[in-house]
Amino acid sequence: MDDRFNTIAGWTLFAGIVALGSAIVSTKIFEQEPLEKPGYAIQGVEAEGAAGGEAADPPVAAVLATADAAAGAKLFGKCAACHSIAQGGANMIGPNLYATVGEAIATGKGGYAFSDALKGKGGNWTFDNLYLWLKSPRTFAPGTKMTFAGMSAPQDRANIIAYLNAQGSNVPLPPPPAAGAAAAPAAAANATAPAANAAEPAKK
Ligand code: HEC
Repeated sequence: MDDRFNTIAGWTLFAGIVALGSAIVSTKIFEQEPLEKPGYAIQGVEAEGAAGGEAADPPVAAVLATADAAAGAKLFGKCAACHSIAQGGANMIGPNLYATVGEAIATGKGGYAFSDALKGKGGNWTFDNLYLWLKSPRTFAPGTKMTFAGMSAPQDRANIIAYLNAQGSNVPLPPPPAAGAAAAPAAAANATAPAANAAEPAKK
């Protein structure tokens, strides 16, 4: 009888210790929670993998058709830690971005030292290229020194592109795809084919 009482008492005590221990542990966890956000975050620098976006994006011409440059100006806050945009603005961590839409990739910018990864890319900052670049800089140009994870939302990217375009570029927007065209199976191929030169002025 006594033995059994001791056993029960022992387990009760043990359970109490476990409960106390886990209470202390959870207090510690809650104490630390506010520290999980880093003290200094560059806005828009998202966690690794945040820009994964497996689903195919709508063609850039479709999202540009509804792009809102004013919304893009607000979103540019994510870029402003590293980029100035005003004409003649200083190069910072990244190059000044005035009149970048339509310009050759990784050139000019008052001698800004671009990475070999971006310099080796070739081509111009067409709407398509910007759309891909802003989705995931390191997928567009592996080895780039733009340590910005990217923005997965197509409309956010289009808004920023519309804003960038309004800063000294004013490249004509590509015609929006005809209604229903986006649903056609060929839509995915558009990403490389006809829209590729979209940032070039259509007619001289
Ligand atoms: C953490 C800093 C940082 C942030 C945030 C950032 N960039 Fe950059 N950006 C860079 C760097 C560095 C480069 C140069 C990349 C290279 O040479 O590989 C660059 C290059 C670029 C270029 C190429 C310019 C050219 O002339 O070829 C564009 C366009 C650009 N960034 C747009 C943006 C936009 C738009 C945003 C916001 C959505 C943004 N960047 C956010 C650092 C940043």
